[in-house]
Amino acid sequence: YSVGSTFDFNAHLFPLSASASDPIYLSLDPTSSSSRGAHSSQNLEKQKSITYLNGLSLVVGLQIGSGIFSSPAQVNSNAGSPGAALLIWLLSGILAWTGASSYAELGGAIPLSGGAQAYLQHIFGDLPAFLFAWVAVVVMRPGSAAIISIIAGEYLGSVFWGSLTEDAEPPPQIAVKAIALAGMWMITFLNCLSTKAGTRMGDVFLLIKLISLMAITIIGIVVAITGFSVKPGGPSMEWKMGNWFEGSSKDLGAYAVALYAGLWAFDGWDNVNYITGEMKNPTRDLPRVIHSAMPLVISCYLLANVSYFFVLPSSVIASSTTVAVRFGTTVFGSAGGILFALAVSISCLGALNATTFTSGRLVYVAGKQGYLPKVFGRLGIGSIANSGTSSSSATTTTFRVPIFGTAYTRTPIFAMLLNAFLTSFFVIIGTFEALIAFYGVAGYSFYFLTVLGLIVLRYREPSLERPYRCWIVTPIVFCCVSLFLVSRGVFGAPVQTGGVILFVLVGVIVFWVRVGPPKRVKRVFGRLRFWKKGRKEEGWSAVGEAR
Ligand code: ARG
Repeated sequence: YSVGSTFDFNAHLFPLSASASDPIYLSLDPTSSSSRGAHSSQNLEKQKSITYLNGLSLVVGLQIGSGIFSSPAQVNSNAGSPGAALLIWLLSGILAWTGASSYAELGGAIPLSGGAQAYLQHIFGDLPAFLFAWVAVVVMRPGSAAIISIIAGEYLGSVFWGSLTEDAEPPPQIAVKAIALAGMWMITFLNCLSTKAGTRMGDVFLLIKLISLMAITIIGIVVAITGFSVKPGGPSMEWKMGNWFEGSSKDLGAYAVALYAGLWAFDGWDNVNYITGEMKNPTRDLPRVIHSAMPLVISCYLLANVSYFFVLPSSVIASSTTVAVRFGTTVFGSAGGILFALAVSISCLGALNATTFTSGRLVYVAGKQGYLPKVFGRLGIGSIANSGTSSSSATTTTFRVPIFGTAYTRTPIFAMLLNAFLTSFFVIIGTFEALIAFYGVAGYSFYFLTVLGLIVLRYREPSLERPYRCWIVTPIVFCCVSLFLVSRGVFGAPVQTGGVILFVLVGVIVFWVRVGPPKRVKRVFGRLRFWKKGRKEEGWSAVGEAR
């Protein structure tokens, strides 16, 4: 089995049995021998180096990003009252948890890297898996990374431009985008440099965000008890009076919008599923990661939101897109605002780091799987020199980098560069709203399909080994809600939905061109066989022929 040469049809048809002989892609341990030529299971063991804590950091690191600091406005304005808003936050958390639990079962039963791509392939075959990879690699992952980097750019920009007060001019768009691009490329660069640089940076960022959220909670409680504030006028004591549910919205559609915003803040729960194949002990650790990340993040978010209410009037929370900054300025004056703006940008950069890490792996797996040109399934820059001969192994370039230690360029550099270029494209052309709507519709369609796959699999392969089994109600609830969200999205954002459908159709064509049409179509055109021409060198022949 040589990675990046021809397509391994066995691995493709029987991903489970293949997992025993399939080199598990990446090595976090730079001393382990070449993962590209790994034949023995001994090597395999060495390469599985993502621990429980690494996994936890990847999930929580992506979940806590922009949302908790900027979505409260959307949740609040749509829910109508603090009580209803808190319920929406709780509900979004629980829903995300049902999705994550379902993915934990799938990840245990199909312990391969690639997340939904691997599950869809096992359950529904190549086309859906390819379409997921297509939409995720080209739009969803870079699109969501673009959103997060633009938010980081906005916060950092307003620190530099001194425009942290509500009535100040926002920093110029071009500056925001320039900062977003600089941050994103810096993170991509570090992740290309070494896997360790990526994970260590992620841990540092995560620590800072957890501290920020904890600070928000503690400040909120102190303010609530003492009424403390250095700012004249003091914090809002609104929460002490009145009914927390007064003014709750009666419109189901408004709640759907609020739920979307809440779910965005919790999104990222599938992050560790992309690298299950690299985990030391996926069957034990994957569910552990999910069941510790979710309650942790849900409690952090609920506490932070309660704190916002302790300090700010609910009208301000409902209208400000920079709640955390308002929170800081209300309690500590402008220095507090700057501090919180910096904390939010760091939080976004951390989420960007977590998503870059796994996006690189997703593209890499898609490249190895043959869904993308095989250059994306290579490790390190050493392989540039070897690109002509697919069986030779990548040479490892070693150099010392201050702080991060020795760097090994055995990261999926080409995959991460593709992701970074696409992200740059979306940062430059994308508007925030369009990106979010596209992400919602496309993302939840595939979440729905994948979790539906879990139910299908329960019936179709009841004896498949499932080290972790979730309660069957869990995927059913998740499927119903994601269907509801997708249908709301379809009506709420018809243009983006059209875009998603068009993009998926293009994906089908790309799939046919790359792989060849499915059997039935092929039987009709069997004699022509035009789709096979010249496909030999591309590593696609095996798929085309076997169909
Ligand atoms: N939860 C994150 C935030 O609040 C967004 C995660 C986006 N998801 C992703 N797979 N990149 O910013």
